[in-house]
Amino acid sequence: MRDGGCGVDAAAKWRFILATMPKITFLPNDVEVDVPEGTIILDAALDNNVKIDHNCGGNCACSTCHIIVEEGFDTLNEMSEDEEDMLDEAENLTDVSRLACQCKVTADLVVRIPEKSSEWDEDDTF
Ligand code: FES
Repeated sequence: MRDGGCGVDAAAKWRFILATMPKITFLPNDVEVDVPEGTIILDAALDNNVKIDHNCGGNCACSTCHIIVEEGFDTLNEMSEDEEDMLDEAENLTDVSRLACQCKVTADLVVRIPEKSSEWDEDDTF
């Protein structure tokens, strides 16, 4: 099927767009989602039925959205002082810990949701 005018197959355009969108893999359940560049990790999770606690509603005022970025940490936006302060309150901090509500996606990521905030249930995902 061709779309009008430019001669480019619309399905091929969508395949290209999907293929170039960053992929986030959420562990421990290994849920993969493709998201537009610039998406906030917390939004990507919630939009795809991946449970991450977010007690302050994504306003960098708690640390319940703590995540561990196992791959792609260096591709994330820089951490603000507010995020650093809030992150200090999180349990089980690592060198690659971030707050999911403060991170913009620019490349493929593998993100682990620490056990504390991860009450996984098979019914919570697709
Ligand atoms: S949801 Fe509270 S700091 Fe991210």
